[in-house]
Amino acid sequence: MGGKGAVSYFPFQEKECNMDRTEVLKPQTLNELIQILHEIFSSDKVNTEEVQNIVESYESNPREWMKYAKFDQYRYTRNLVDKGNGKFNLMILCWGEGHGSSIHDHTNSHCFLKILQGSLKETLYDWPQENESEMVKKSEDVLKLNQCAYINDSIGLHRVENTSHTEPAVSLHLYSPPFNQCHTFDQRTGHKNVVKMTFWSKYGDRTPFAIGQSQENN
Ligand SMILES: [Fe+2]
Repeated sequence: MGGKGAVSYFPFQEKECNMDRTEVLKPQTLNELIQILHEIFSSDKVNTEEVQNIVESYESNPREWMKYAKFDQYRYTRNLVDKGNGKFNLMILCWGEGHGSSIHDHTNSHCFLKILQGSLKETLYDWPQENESEMVKKSEDVLKLNQCAYINDSIGLHRVENTSHTEPAVSLHLYSPPFNQCHTFDQRTGHKNVVKMTFWSKYGDRTPFAIGQSQENN
């Protein structure tokens, strides 16, 4: 992204006055957020803290994202919202009560995770050791409405769960660069598997089921 002038084109409300390069833009709608993300990721250098702040500053409005929010009875779904000119994938994940991911990595990409509805528990793990052993839990946190978390492979691995048995959860995820496979890890042994990921829907339309496809988290 260019200097301050490059972003001032957008009619977004600023969170604070007199902010310079690190100014935090507050997108008023999901579409405005997507426009800002396109601008930011058109640059080769991305300030992940800036992205995290902007994504967090968008106040979830279910009317804006409900067309993407498609649930499955048995497991969480991945629903594509925007392909980010090839620079990122933006998607909405829908978590039924008790649904959770495996422990997984992020294929050397940036991963931003924002809560649009409900809450999600994020548990961080160290990468497994060479020897077969229980994976080491580093920390856990409950992500609340509008909060945006960030992870990459240097930080570690994580598992994401909707631990509520009464409320579904919806989250917005940005991955840059985009990827369509990652590794999942067995908590007891550290053994890893390659998993290809698919979309439950794209742009609000249910994706036709292809034989042999499996769906995993990221
Ligand atoms: Fe993840």
